[in-house]
Amino acid sequence: MSDTARLILEGQEYEFPVLTGAENEKAIDISKLRGTTGYITLDPGFKNTGSTQSGITYLDGENGILRYRGYSIEELAEKASFMEVAYLLIYGDLPNSDQLAYFTDSITHHTLVHENMKRFFDAFPLGAHPMGMLSSMVASLSTFYPESQNPNRDITDIELTIHRLIAKMPTLAAQAYKHNVGLPTMYPKNNLSYVGNFMHMMWGVPAEDYEVDPIIESALNKLFILHADHEQNCSTSTVRVVGSSQANLYSSVSAGVSALWGPLHGGANQAVIEMLEAIRAEGSPLQSWIDRAKDKTDSFRLMGFGHRVYKNFDPRARIIKKAADDVLGQLGINDPVLDIAKQLEEVALHDEYFVKRGLYPNVDFYSGIIYRALGIPTDMFTVMFALGRLPGWIAQWKEMTENREPIGRPRQVYTGATQRDFVALNNRS
Ligand code: SDX
Repeated sequence: MSDTARLILEGQEYEFPVLTGAENEKAIDISKLRGTTGYITLDPGFKNTGSTQSGITYLDGENGILRYRGYSIEELAEKASFMEVAYLLIYGDLPNSDQLAYFTDSITHHTLVHENMKRFFDAFPLGAHPMGMLSSMVASLSTFYPESQNPNRDITDIELTIHRLIAKMPTLAAQAYKHNVGLPTMYPKNNLSYVGNFMHMMWGVPAEDYEVDPIIESALNKLFILHADHEQNCSTSTVRVVGSSQANLYSSVSAGVSALWGPLHGGANQAVIEMLEAIRAEGSPLQSWIDRAKDKTDSFRLMGFGHRVYKNFDPRARIIKKAADDVLGQLGINDPVLDIAKQLEEVALHDEYFVKRGLYPNVDFYSGIIYRALGIPTDMFTVMFALGRLPGWIAQWKEMTENREPIGRPRQVYTGATQRDFVALNNRS
C-alpha cells in the first residue's frame, strides 16, 4: 500500500507522505502543503486534524479503548495508585519502588502554598466559582517561583516545577472549597497519601483529627486515574498551545483549567447533575427530555452524552457507572438521581437519533453522582476533574517542550471586507 497521498490542484499533482502510528492509524503529513501548493486546509474544531505525534495516550473511539503509555485504563483503575499513574504519564513507565518513593516524597514535601495566597482567596467574593479561583491561583504560582519562567527550561527547574504543581493543586482546590463554606483552611499533613491529604484539607477541621475513609479514598483514587489524560482534548490542546509560546507550566495549566471549565468539556459533570436535578424536579417523562435533546430548535443537549472520539461507550463511563453503584452501596446512600441517570441512559440508547450518531454516556455522565455521594458540592465537580487531569496536562506539556515543537499558530480563510479607502467621519452615513 502506497505511503504517499496524491492531491490534484488546478491540474497539477502533488504528493504528501502518509504516516502510520503505533496502532496503525493513518495520517497525511501536510506540513509542506502551503509551501508547495499555496493552499491551506480548513477543519473547524480540528475534527480531522492531528496537531502532534504523541506517545502518551491512545484512544480507539470506535472500540472504546483507552490506554496510558500502553496500559489499559481498566487495569490501571483497578490496580494502580494515582501517584503511579501520574509518574507513568509524565515519565513514560510505571515507577519501581525507589522511583515511586522519591516521587511521592518530593510531592509530599511541596504541598504548602505561600501564606500570601490566603489573601488572594480572601479577595474572592463568597460563592466565587472554584474553577475561577483555581485557574487564577495556578497562574499566580508562577509569580512565587520565577525560575519556572525560564524559557530555556533547565531540566532541574522543570522537574521541581512539575512536583510543586502536582503537590500544590490539591491544596489550592481545597482552599477554594473552604473559602466558599467559610471554614478554616487546613494545612497539608505529610503522613497521609496524596488523595488522603486532599480529603483531610477538604473535610478536616482544626478541632479534631480527620479520619480518612478508605472507601472514599479508593473511589477518589480511581476517579483521578480515570480523568488523568485523554490525548489531544480541548483543555490539553490548550495547555500545549500556550506552552508552545514558551509560557511557563503554571500559566499553561491555568489556561487548561479555564478550557476544562466549559460545559461542553469538563464542566459537563456539573451540568449533568443540574440536568438530572431538573428532570427530577419537573417530573416530566424522560422521553420529553430526549425529544428536546433531538430538537434542533431547542438549545438543550443531553449533558454527559456524546463524545468527539468515542462513538461507542466511553470505557471510563462504564467503570464509573459500576463504581457509582459500589460507592453508594458501601456508603449506604440511595440517590434517586442515579436511578434517573440509568433510566435516561436506557431510553437514549434505544433512540435511533442517539444510536445513529454514536451518542453514548461519556466520562461526565456518572462521575457527578459519585462526587455528590462523597459530599462534594456541584460547583467543585470540575475542580475534581482538573485534579485528575493534572498529570496528563503536565505530561503533554513536557512532551511538547522536549520535542521543541513549533509555536501553535493556525491559518484561516479570510471572509471579511476586501480593500477599501478610509471615509471621514462626517461622510459616513
Ligand atoms: C469531555 O475530547 C475529550 O477527550 C473530552 C473528554 C476528556 O476526557 O478530556 O472526554 C471530556 O469533555 C467529555 C464530553 C463532555 N461534554 C458533554 O457531555 C456535553 C454534551 N455533549 C456534546 O455537546 C457533544 O457530544 C460533544 C461536545 C462532547 C462532542 O461534540 P462534537 O464532536 O463536536 O459533535 P457535534 O456537536 O458535531 O454532534 C454531532 C451530532 C450533532 O447532530 P447533527 O448535526 O448530526 O444532527 O450529534 C448531536 C449534535 O447535535 N449531539 C447531541 C449531543 N452531542 C452531540 N445531541 C444531543 N445531546 C448531545 N449531548
